[in-house]
Amino acid sequence: MFIVFEGIDGSGKTTLSRKLQNFLLLRGIKAIWTKEPYTAYIREIVINNKLSAWEETLLFITDRSIHVRELIGPKLEKGFTVICDRFYLSTFAYQGFGKGIPLEDIKKIHRTVIDEVKPDITFLLDIEPYKALERIKSRGNFSKFEKLNFLQKVREGFLELAKEETNTFILNGEKNIYQLLGEVLEILSKKIEIFHLKEK
Ligand code: TMP
Repeated sequence: MFIVFEGIDGSGKTTLSRKLQNFLLLRGIKAIWTKEPYTAYIREIVINNKLSAWEETLLFITDRSIHVRELIGPKLEKGFTVICDRFYLSTFAYQGFGKGIPLEDIKKIHRTVIDEVKPDITFLLDIEPYKALERIKSRGNFSKFEKLNFLQKVREGFLELAKEETNTFILNGEKNIYQLLGEVLEILSKKIEIFHLKEK
C-alpha cells in the first residue's frame, strides 16, 4: 500500500507520517518512511539556488522519477507499505498554483516520466499558513518556499486539487498529533476493508 502525506511547510505531515510508520511497525507491518525531495543532490540544487519555476518543476519531477524507480516501486513490489512525505500533489500545488506553471503542462510531463505509480491514499494536512509559519519560526530559518502569500496560494492549490484527486482526505493540521493519528488509522482501516472485499 502506498500512503502519501501532503501539505504546506509546517503543516505537521512529517511528524504524523513518522508516527504512522512507528504504529505500523509495532504491529508487525513492514512499513518504510520516505520523503521528497528524495535525492540529496537535487534537494541541494532546488533549495539553495535561485531557479526559474520551470527549472524547479523539472528538477522535482526528475527527483520523483528516481525516487519511484529506486525505492518506492521496488518496495511496493516486495509488499512493503510505503509512507511518503510529499508526492506529485506538492509539485502541482507549489510549482502549479504557487508559481504559475500551467497544471496541464506539469501533468503531461508527469504522465510521461512517471507512469503508473499512484498513491492508494493521500492525507492532506490543512493549516492556516500564518500558523504553519509560526511553527517553522520556532524551528529555525525559513527556506525560500516559506513565505506567507506564497504558502496561501499553495494551500488553496492543495484544497482545490484534493477535490479532484481520488482517495484524498483532508485533515485539520491544527489538531493534536494523537487525534490526527486516530483519524488516519480510522480512514486506513476502512480503506483496507474495501481492499479485502475487492480481492474476494
Ligand atoms: P520539505 O521541507 O518538505 O523537505 O520540502 C522542501 C521544500 O520543497 C518545501 O518547501 C516544498 C518544496 N517542494 C516543492 O516546491 N515542490 C515539490 O514537488 C516538492 C516535493 C517539494
